[in-house]
Amino acid sequence: MEVDRPNPTLRGKRLVLGVTGSIAVYKAVSLLRTLTGEGASVAVAMTQSATKFVTPLTFEVLSGARVTTDLFEAHEEMKHLSLPEQADALIVAPATANFLAKAAVGLADDVLSTMLLTTRCPVIIAPAMDGDMWTHPTVVEHVRTLRARGVVVLDPEEGPLASGRIAQGRLAAEARILEAVQTALVPHNDWREQRVLVSAGPTQEAIDPVRFISNRSSGKMGYAIADAARDRGAQVVLVTGPTALTPPPGVEVVSVTTAKEMADALCQHFPWATVVIMAAAVADFLPKDQAVQKLKKRGQPAFSLELETAPDILAMLSAQRTSQVLVGFAAETEDLISHAKDKLVGKGLDLIVANDVTREGAGFGSDNNAVVILTRTGQQKEFGLMPKRRLADEILTAVQTLCVTQHTQRSATVVE
Ligand code: CTP
Repeated sequence: MEVDRPNPTLRGKRLVLGVTGSIAVYKAVSLLRTLTGEGASVAVAMTQSATKFVTPLTFEVLSGARVTTDLFEAHEEMKHLSLPEQADALIVAPATANFLAKAAVGLADDVLSTMLLTTRCPVIIAPAMDGDMWTHPTVVEHVRTLRARGVVVLDPEEGPLASGRIAQGRLAAEARILEAVQTALVPHNDWREQRVLVSAGPTQEAIDPVRFISNRSSGKMGYAIADAARDRGAQVVLVTGPTALTPPPGVEVVSVTTAKEMADALCQHFPWATVVIMAAAVADFLPKDQAVQKLKKRGQPAFSLELETAPDILAMLSAQRTSQVLVGFAAETEDLISHAKDKLVGKGLDLIVANDVTREGAGFGSDNNAVVILTRTGQQKEFGLMPKRRLADEILTAVQTLCVTQHTQRSATVVE
């Protein structure tokens, strides 16, 4: 089983780290260590000014590869062309105002600015400079131009600067740079052939006209999955119980309240779907009878409510499936893996996302989650605490991988 990795998408990725002449160059050393620690192979390109702050040797030792500094040196072997062509992402951190200007207008007078013109991979720029420079209209204009071109330019952070002043100009925190790289590496449009049916949020089961039974689900995980699937090119229908969230744009939303309404909406869209992801926390028990009028205390010392078991929607869908991929969640407070495995098999699922809802900072209501993904084929992979939106992409990637494996196995069987 794979261990907790906060940033698994960097494994095996080829990155170029461009370093320009700012006092923040020393932070690029730590960034390099983190990127390689995450499993990426990183080629470093430095401008001449950057080498005045930290020697290329430091980066060479940590990256295990020769650092590119000069466009004209014979040993560079056209690195300004080959490195960016092969790279999955190009990161410039720290980036000076001078570098932003060159990048915005397309000047190519050193190895790094030349790389920008030869690469077609995502580019992430993390500027660092004095506060007055960052807010200067010229720099503002260059940043706008680069962003309009699809380059990710991270806002620098506010704090004490080398000049001794406190202003916005500090290099973005390493975690923000990592997050931007990770996001840029998520494939786009790889779900364009898919029609995804997602459920989210709680259900509410009325006891009487003013009371209901519900649960702590916020809907954030399901909404994040709908958002991620839409971003990756899928058509998405989101069936949602009552939540306080704004639905993601570009997604068809079906609002429901009860488990019965959720089941009806899902069954109606099921034949259309290629993938169904049940992130909703559906009621398990429903009041047997609903009082038409508000129930009165009338001095009773106790009150009991008769509940009946709600139909299991996933099991119902599983029984009617044609070729849909079925994904469920397992919200557990104990024996996470064994309960999740039981649900995976019992509900006839392809993949289950096991969620320890007692873990601090994860689960219901939180913006983050930590889960284990288990597949029908016996794969098991653990994901440490991360934003639900990022986790949504990990879940989609796991479904994608499972489908590709399944398809390959089927083709092999046909050939035999
Ligand atoms: N689910 C469902 N219909 C229900 C209850 C749950 O389709 N009536 C789905 C959930 O959306 C989730 C999966 O089943 O994807 C597991 O839900 P969970 O609440 O973890 O487990 P239950 O099946 O309800 O079992 P238990 O409450 O005993 O843990």
